[in-house]
Amino acid sequence: MVEAVGPDVTGVGPGDRVAYAGGPPGSYAESRLLPAAILVKIPDGVADQTAAAVMLKGMTAQYLIRRTHRVQPGETVLFHAAAGGVGLIACQWLKALGATVIGTVGSDEKATVARAHGCDHVIISTREDIAKRVKEITGGAGVPVVYDSVGKDTFLTSLDCLRPLGLLVSFGNSSGKVTPFDIGILSQKGSLYLTRPTLATYTATRADLEATAREVFDVIREGKVKVEIRHTYPLADAEKVHRDLEGRRTVGSIVMIP
Ligand SMILES: NC(=O)c1ccc[n+]([C@@H]2O[C@H](COP(=O)([O-])OP(=O)(O)OC[C@H]3O[C@@H](n4cnc5c(N)ncnc54)[C@H](OP(=O)(O)O)[C@@H]3O)[C@@H](O)[C@H]2O)c1
Repeated sequence: MVEAVGPDVTGVGPGDRVAYAGGPPGSYAESRLLPAAILVKIPDGVADQTAAAVMLKGMTAQYLIRRTHRVQPGETVLFHAAAGGVGLIACQWLKALGATVIGTVGSDEKATVARAHGCDHVIISTREDIAKRVKEITGGAGVPVVYDSVGKDTFLTSLDCLRPLGLLVSFGNSSGKVTPFDIGILSQKGSLYLTRPTLATYTATRADLEATAREVFDVIREGKVKVEIRHTYPLADAEKVHRDLEGRRTVGSIVMIP
């Protein structure tokens, strides 16, 4: 909620419900100063906690599946960490777009959650051979796009899941940074494409930020993407939040309440 604005600020004013993603560090606070240019108004019908849970993760899902690779109905795609914050939003959205979703997760409990959110095929990464299963599911063809936020542990496996000319979207490092590699591997594995995108680039202009946020709020209001917040913590427990996230103990988005 906006408390006050500077003299030259237009577009937002005291009492407006607003949200933002990224921006300068300092979000673990009860109130803060922010440039108005990064704020988006939260529309009616979207609760404060829902907005908090989806601004970064929902806009990330939007650019990944609507812009980095515009997923088409009937395509089969692989999404790692499918029961994660970005993952659960992306799986539901992909399903609504008419895609077949293969998701990886770290446990049976997360597999159940991923299936309930649109994953057609779930691979348990801690005990199954991901590339082998993807080839089985796709009749040996591989997928046109892999969305990989796990990074170090899955990078080479992800390349092996792609069909020729496929695209690896490496958008995170949950398991550590990808080890430097010889780009010749992209030719050997089928003239593959690789991108390492970030939300900041995709929302760098005001027009892109507004269009991205609007699409996220639209799919929520239309019920295509449902956001269940399973983990809410007091802000004072921020350290525990980080330990649980790092320990792979969380499902979906986490919200901290000041
Ligand atoms: N590039 C961008 O624009 C952008 C924007 C937002 C977020 N991100 C990145 O996207 C990723 C997902 O973000 P999120 O907030 O939605 O997190 P998250 O998916 O809720 O949590 C990370 C998940 O990664 C999986 N994982 C696999 N190996 C892991 C390991 N060694 N250590 C920890 N986790 C591991 C775990 O799921 P399983 O146990 O099921 O494997 C874990 O729950 C993060 O890496 C984040 O930095 C990137």
